[in-house]
Amino acid sequence: MASITLQPARSEGTISRYIYGHFSEHLGRCIYQGLYVGEGSAIPNKNGMRTAAVEALKRLRVPVLRWPGGCFADEYHWEDGIGPKETRRRMVNTNWGGIVEDNSFGTHEFLELCRQIGCEPYINGNVGSGTVREMAEWIEYLNSDGDSTVVRKRRANGREDAWNVRFFGVGNESWGCGGNMRPEYYADEFRRYATYCRTYGENRLYKIACGPSADGYNWTQVLMQRAGRFMDGLSLHYYTLCGDWNDKLSATRFGPEEYYRTLKRAAYMEELLTRHSALMDRYDPDKKVGLIVDEWGTWFEVEPGTNPGFLYQQNTMRDALVAAITLNIFNRHCSRVAMANLAQTVNVLQSVLLTEGEQMILTPTYHVFDLYKAHMDAKQIDCFVEADPVWEGEWSQCGLSASASEKDGVITVTLANLSCDRALPVSVRGSGRKEAAGRILHGDMAEHNTFEASPLFLKDLKDISYAQGAFQLTLPPCSVAAVELK
Ligand code: AHR
Repeated sequence: MASITLQPARSEGTISRYIYGHFSEHLGRCIYQGLYVGEGSAIPNKNGMRTAAVEALKRLRVPVLRWPGGCFADEYHWEDGIGPKETRRRMVNTNWGGIVEDNSFGTHEFLELCRQIGCEPYINGNVGSGTVREMAEWIEYLNSDGDSTVVRKRRANGREDAWNVRFFGVGNESWGCGGNMRPEYYADEFRRYATYCRTYGENRLYKIACGPSADGYNWTQVLMQRAGRFMDGLSLHYYTLCGDWNDKLSATRFGPEEYYRTLKRAAYMEELLTRHSALMDRYDPDKKVGLIVDEWGTWFEVEPGTNPGFLYQQNTMRDALVAAITLNIFNRHCSRVAMANLAQTVNVLQSVLLTEGEQMILTPTYHVFDLYKAHMDAKQIDCFVEADPVWEGEWSQCGLSASASEKDGVITVTLANLSCDRALPVSVRGSGRKEAAGRILHGDMAEHNTFEASPLFLKDLKDISYAQGAFQLTLPPCSVAAVELK
């Protein structure tokens, strides 16, 4: 028996909707063939955007989409991706598979995609191989309404009004693929670039500095100390990767040991957020600078027979549990975590959608985002969780993960039973509510949807009873649920 005690009077604040954001890079089949199939495609599309993908993302109420990278961002020159498609510059995507990028998806196309989805854009600029002027002019192209040469070019390319893009990243992984810089050097570079990242009109630019990888605490310390007052957000990248880069786990073939190891690696996000937040608190006690976890998710071996540079992996119930654990952690850290972006939306790493030609499937991770969407912009509520541990030794952890929030009088509790083979009876107390309804995703730990069959989808959570101030329910093994209490 496990229990959740809600404490509605105790809250970290509002859960930013942007925690439920996504990331799409020019990598493998994420943009091309995934989100963007081209205007002339036989696959149903609107202005080149795959209709089924747009509709699925709209259902998730995706709040923000990051683009164009990732490592690609620091080799991307935005002017190559505007103007007539026939004359756009072709380049080799050196980071991802060495394929030719024809730049047919550029600034206008990305902003059209965001318009169709109904989400805000988050554009990541190039520090590694770009210039201050190039970045400044991209922002002018995006956001200015002045009669400048740059704005005239935008208008000649068919866009009259500024797009008013708010979120802007100044470099990506500048400690690695974005230039192999030292934190002291990047802190100065950030200050220089950020100076020319201008605000146009009423649209105040939200400038995101490149932050650490995983436990790179020194990077956070140096950035906050030297450049904290020039930034609105500091990014953090952490992937659930078990083993090393040359010996990754399979996405679909694994046993209980690898299952629990992966979940434990996902739960490490808790320690990362706690420690990076503590460092940020030192320089920014009022929490003005948001922690932007703009790359997170599982990283497994690519599907056999696929291009290793395309990072195409399947998505099982194990991924669903990773998403549930991670999103619960983000919710609990909402006073510092201002945005997060799952890597990556379609066909790359922990995707919510997979495509093959015209076909498209929803992954288990998609359904977790669907379950959790009630948390967006809701007031976080503390919850105290008690449950037996699962597994033994290094990969052991509490068998129940949960978070809670309140909006319009309704309390939403999202919870996950980590055990791969045992059902878990749970009592939920302290809500002051008497009615409950829930939905659940469950399956075997390695189960996944394929282009032949999609056995994993959301079902009603039946048999929630109420007695003496507590709800009782049972979570099947390897399950994720959302319960609404009214
Ligand atoms: O998401 C894949 C890659 O992982 C990104 O391009 C990079 O930023 C990170 O290393």
